[in-house]
Amino acid sequence: MRWMIAVALVALIGCKQQSADKPQSPAGEAATPPAAKKLSVGFSQVGAESAWRTAETKSIRGEAEKRGVDLKFADAQGKQAQQIQALTSFIAQKVDVIVLAPVVETGWEVVLRQAKDANIPVILVDRGIKVSDESLYTTLIASDFVEEGRMAAEWLAKKMNGKANIYELQGTTGSAPAIDRKKGFEEVLQKYPDMKIVKSQSADFTRAKGKEVMEAFIKSDRDQIQAVYAHNDDMALGAIQALDEAGMNPGKDVTIISVDAVKGAFEAMVAGKLNATVECNPLMGPLVFDTINKVRAGEKVPKFIQNKDQLFEQANAAQVIGSREY
Ligand code: AHR
Repeated sequence: MRWMIAVALVALIGCKQQSADKPQSPAGEAATPPAAKKLSVGFSQVGAESAWRTAETKSIRGEAEKRGVDLKFADAQGKQAQQIQALTSFIAQKVDVIVLAPVVETGWEVVLRQAKDANIPVILVDRGIKVSDESLYTTLIASDFVEEGRMAAEWLAKKMNGKANIYELQGTTGSAPAIDRKKGFEEVLQKYPDMKIVKSQSADFTRAKGKEVMEAFIKSDRDQIQAVYAHNDDMALGAIQALDEAGMNPGKDVTIISVDAVKGAFEAMVAGKLNATVECNPLMGPLVFDTINKVRAGEKVPKFIQNKDQLFEQANAAQVIGSREY
């Protein structure tokens, strides 16, 4: 009996000692230390119109998860009004940072002013905007779309020996990549008077519309079509389908160049149906969160952080396809 009382006393003293080491709440209970607040980021994405866009979303979401960031994701389904609504809601929720991939270039002043007044930095990803006051956003992380257009035109002019009837599939009207890829392409064509854009129409960056617009071009201009310049791979893949179905020969009788360098474009090049693609890197998750950390630490970041891109041709597609990450 005596030894049982001794054991109970030792256990009691041990317990008291342990709880004395822990911080105590005013009520005397042991308090758990407050959990560190997670960084909260609101990400307003354009939508899921292309394989490129899906890869970008995956990269940003994956990186947020890896770093334990509370990412509030909003898909705008291609509508600016929905993006403005998402931003307004992020501001009301007092997120730490907003990441915006803007559908179009204009119409952002009011909501970005609200973010600025609430001291929430805005990081633009992949597409730029036009604002009268550049302090409304912190930085833009993107490719140089004008340069992509130039690269495509230089390649096509060389391939066609400076002479071609070109049919252009434009991206979403009013979006930075549609405006700038056209601008860079046309700038280079000035040097080649026999390289002519015969028809140019928006196909909204989607495969379905790329096919639809190409079908209309074939219907009216079948025998004149020598080259296609598509502002993204998805539209080029739709156009290839239309040309195939019309019994034409994409990649041989019709030379096709597009932008993005997604896996599907490499498959089409390996199959001999697409001739070239200009890369536009969507894997920006790590860079986005590194930049956010710098901004929050008070470091100055450049106004434009540029992704570097390169051009891939049919000839080296089979070699490269295995190493493509998107
Ligand atoms: O802003 C980048 C462009 O948007 C990509 O080239 C295109 O595929 C996309 O949807």
